[in-house]
Amino acid sequence: MATGGNRPAPCPLARGTAPAKIILTGEHAVVYGFAAVALPVRNLQAHASVTRAAPGYGTVLVAHDLMRSSRLRDPDPALQALATSVQQSLAKTDMDRDPDWIIQIRSQIPVARGMGSGAAVACAAVRAVAQAAQADFSDADVNTIVFQCERHLHGNPSGIDNTVIVYNRPLLFGKGQDPVFFTPRVPWTLLLADTGEPSATVAAVQAVAALRASAPGRVEAWMEEIGEISREVHTLLCQGREGRLPALLNRNQALLRRLGVSAPCNERLIQAAMDAGALAAKVTGAGLGGQVLVLAAGEDRHTLGQALDAAGAQAVRHLVL
Ligand code: PMV
Repeated sequence: MATGGNRPAPCPLARGTAPAKIILTGEHAVVYGFAAVALPVRNLQAHASVTRAAPGYGTVLVAHDLMRSSRLRDPDPALQALATSVQQSLAKTDMDRDPDWIIQIRSQIPVARGMGSGAAVACAAVRAVAQAAQADFSDADVNTIVFQCERHLHGNPSGIDNTVIVYNRPLLFGKGQDPVFFTPRVPWTLLLADTGEPSATVAAVQAVAALRASAPGRVEAWMEEIGEISREVHTLLCQGREGRLPALLNRNQALLRRLGVSAPCNERLIQAAMDAGALAAKVTGAGLGGQVLVLAAGEDRHTLGQALDAAGAQAVRHLVL
């Protein structure tokens, strides 16, 4: 769909941004009410802008990274979750339900890599729509809408991704409880190594649900331990004590392995990182591909990056938190 030919881009009415996220500890267990720790990643952002279109044009969504565009009133299935967030945002304002707007999305966040790309794009769009409509949305309002988008994308989300992205702060999260925001006081170096394999959140969550149904007692005990790990990690980070942090992350990985979400591509990078002197390495997010999170001693960053490259990492990113 053409969106303006070669004319100079009009000045946006409004813009919205949102960060990527990582889950430090507690993925999967968090779906069953146990605690998890998540952090925003500020050097990877999703951006949305709203510009005025010609009268009668209606609202058009343009997702540059997906190379798709679509009318809001008849969305492309690939943009349905985003369209729902925009529709819900408009419904909360005094605007027409199909204003003459072009909503453009650009994102630096890799898709299907456990970094909350869908939630971040929705959050950026909701903020841009609210601003363009001159409506005052609280973070709680934005979070409610982005959570609905997550439900659309993932079926049974815990709510951790939307919450850390919308509030843009490190948090200890428990389903149905108020998030506990905090400031980590540990000077750490975190790397993310991309397996190159997309992580399918729905499939991974369903696989864990099936395992839990087949061995409820064992899986419950592992998840309970993961929840305790998250609580202890939170305490250490608040107190500025690195202490058992590496051991806790490695123990979390051992439990994720038992839950069956650490695929061979994850294991290969974890092994390479540990062999090259990482303090800890684990799956982050749903797993079965996606990315591996590596805790490094600061001076080891470059050696670790080389070892991860040599082990087949598609990309290695230094996280700015
Ligand atoms: O979609 P991801 O890779 O960020 O995974 C989300 C984390 C899970 O705990 C696996 C699911 C959830 O809803 O919390």
